[in-house]
Amino acid sequence: MRALAYRGPNNVKVEKKRDPELQHPNDVVLKVTRAAICGSDLHLLHGLIPDTRIGCTFGHEFTGTVEETGRSVTSLREGDRVVVPFNIACGSCFYCLRGLSANCENTNPNSDMSSGVYGYSHSTGGYEGGQAEYVRVPFADVGPMKIPDDMEEEEVLFLSDIFPTGYQAAEMGEIKGGETVVVFGCGPVGLFAMKSAWLLGAARVIAVDHVEYRLEFARRWAGVETINFKQHDNIALFIKEMFNGRGPDVCIDCVGMEAEGSMMHSVPGKSNLESGSATAIAWCIDTVRKGGNVSIVGVYEPPWNLVPIGTAMNKGLTLRMNQCNVKRYMPHLLKHIREGRVDAKGIISHRFPLSDAPKAYDLFSAKKDNCVKCVLLPNA
Ligand SMILES: NC(=O)c1ccc[n+]([C@@H]2O[C@H](COP(=O)([O-])OP(=O)(O)OC[C@H]3O[C@@H](n4cnc5c(N)ncnc54)[C@H](O)[C@@H]3O)[C@@H](O)[C@H]2O)c1
Ligand SMILES: [Zn+2]
Ligand SMILES: [Zn+2]
Repeated sequence: MRALAYRGPNNVKVEKKRDPELQHPNDVVLKVTRAAICGSDLHLLHGLIPDTRIGCTFGHEFTGTVEETGRSVTSLREGDRVVVPFNIACGSCFYCLRGLSANCENTNPNSDMSSGVYGYSHSTGGYEGGQAEYVRVPFADVGPMKIPDDMEEEEVLFLSDIFPTGYQAAEMGEIKGGETVVVFGCGPVGLFAMKSAWLLGAARVIAVDHVEYRLEFARRWAGVETINFKQHDNIALFIKEMFNGRGPDVCIDCVGMEAEGSMMHSVPGKSNLESGSATAIAWCIDTVRKGGNVSIVGVYEPPWNLVPIGTAMNKGLTLRMNQCNVKRYMPHLLKHIREGRVDAKGIISHRFPLSDAPKAYDLFSAKKDNCVKCVLLPNA
């Protein structure tokens, strides 16, 4: 088959690889119909995730058609169309039984870190990803969700990650009705966090970024107010002033380890002295009102970052964070899409055949051509 392959920092190619095979009775092999590129893939592309091995295939947001099923698989048949959560979870361990599929302890040898994840380096188990013609899906009775007959792949593709991630971000912020919310980052995850904040009843939602076309897209697609942080010397102070000098109730970090805006974080972050720049976390902590909630879904790697924990402690903040427990949100968010409250597909700005994957990475990484979200069609 043809698949994307990592060739070192800032270098991906499309190469011939062996077709995936069933390795366990509960595996299926999918023929991939759509595979999206995520902000998390950019951390891999830029060489920032430990143990990203040469030749590995990225891709943890995909839909596919079942091509082959292991003999113990009961919930799927050849020809079924499915969308697959990015977490690989066993469904029966201590964490899975509590709905914490992102923390499954049976699918990653480094299980203290996270569950297994498709196409996300050997630090999350070394599984091959879905930016390929075919992909092996383990625990096939646990993760995949069948796509309803009357729905298209692209309508549900983002149930694999970014819609649930944005929703969990809003939920961890404890938005219950009437809150003021500031979302840092207007990438795909930020966009879904904004939508989810509205769905959960927020009274006011403000989004922060420095890329003008993304701010414009956030205003249009998510109906939020926006701020370009490059236009303010002290962004935290500026936002607090908008809320009687106190700050908003909730701040959400949808930026992660490659945040811009602070040399103090960018320099050690990009040279691996800290595990990525924790600028957005610091801005969330500084901006939110005392007693408020900070929710972090931007990705940071172990072991440590420069986080102003003393400020958080003295302000009495609640900090919550995790990889997204995708599976538990799928049915509920499918309903929001189906009933027309969220046009998930509407954030796709570019579609490419698999052979153009390197171009898609370049476009998304450099934010060229107003790129919001790229989707690959490996079997078009
Ligand atoms: N927790 C999870 O389960 C989960 C799932 C998916 C993605 N993620 C992570 O979420 C983050 C965002 O993903 P994405 O796909 O939206 O990526 P993206 O790179 O498209 O978006 C990030 C945005 O943040 C902006 N930005 C940079 N510095 C900023 C700052 N200091 N303040 C505000 N905005 C800033 C960038 O201009 C960009 O628009 C990534 O770190 C990704 O790895 C986490
Ligand atoms: Zn993702
Ligand atoms: Zn488990």
